[in-house]
Amino acid sequence: MDINVVDNYSELSEKAAAIVVNEVNCRPDTVLGLATGSTPEGMYAQLVKKYQERKVDFSDLITFNLDEYSGLSTEHPQSYHYYMHKHFFDHINIKSHNINIPHSEDRDIAHACGEYDRKIIEAGGINLQILGIGVNGHIGFNEPAEHLNTGTHLVDLSDETIAANSRFFNSRDDVPYQAITMGVGSIMHAEKILVMACGKNKARAIQLMCCGKVTTNLPASLLQLHRCVTLLLDREAASLLE
Ligand code: F6R
Repeated sequence: MDINVVDNYSELSEKAAAIVVNEVNCRPDTVLGLATGSTPEGMYAQLVKKYQERKVDFSDLITFNLDEYSGLSTEHPQSYHYYMHKHFFDHINIKSHNINIPHSEDRDIAHACGEYDRKIIEAGGINLQILGIGVNGHIGFNEPAEHLNTGTHLVDLSDETIAANSRFFNSRDDVPYQAITMGVGSIMHAEKILVMACGKNKARAIQLMCCGKVTTNLPASLLQLHRCVTLLLDREAASLLE
């Protein structure tokens, strides 16, 4: 793993955006795997800025988001559909048919999940996958468990994740208890992976991810098996690393 520690959140966001811009400029039809949550917000703001400055063109970009809550409509302000359009897609020239986000509203979830995986394969796989990390070491919404799924699937969110994400909702009871997530197979098949983390509450997960045993009980630890992982950490998230 290529571990990079930066001084603050704005540097983290700028560096992450620079990696994405470089990827897209080298290969305009890049397939990008995207994350939501608070960590990548600054990166999206930087990407929009770079687009407005004409330093990057997203017209051939293809994206696949990692996950979506189950039971929220795509118009719900806390849905990841809404998030992606608000922070990124509505401000750039990506073609709408190149945007892929798991749909929780499909009646036949198993079929929709299979279709999502099929589309990823059809696109040639993910070139660069952006990841955040949960306080419990989840990636996407692959929660710590005895077994993990390789493909896209419906998952029960852990109490820790519900508690952590309740900050975005009026109350803990409003947080959906299930989500659709890309599986660890699709994530691990990405050519390159960029993990972003900031804040003290991520330090333990980062330590275990980098230096702990590879275990499904800390899904991010599987990234130790991947050949091309870049980590962008602020000082607090890196504070428990040697
Ligand atoms: C979101 C996702 C999650 C988040 C993680 C960290 O699409 O896949 O794994 O990356 O929960 O979230 P934040 O950045 O809000 O701390």
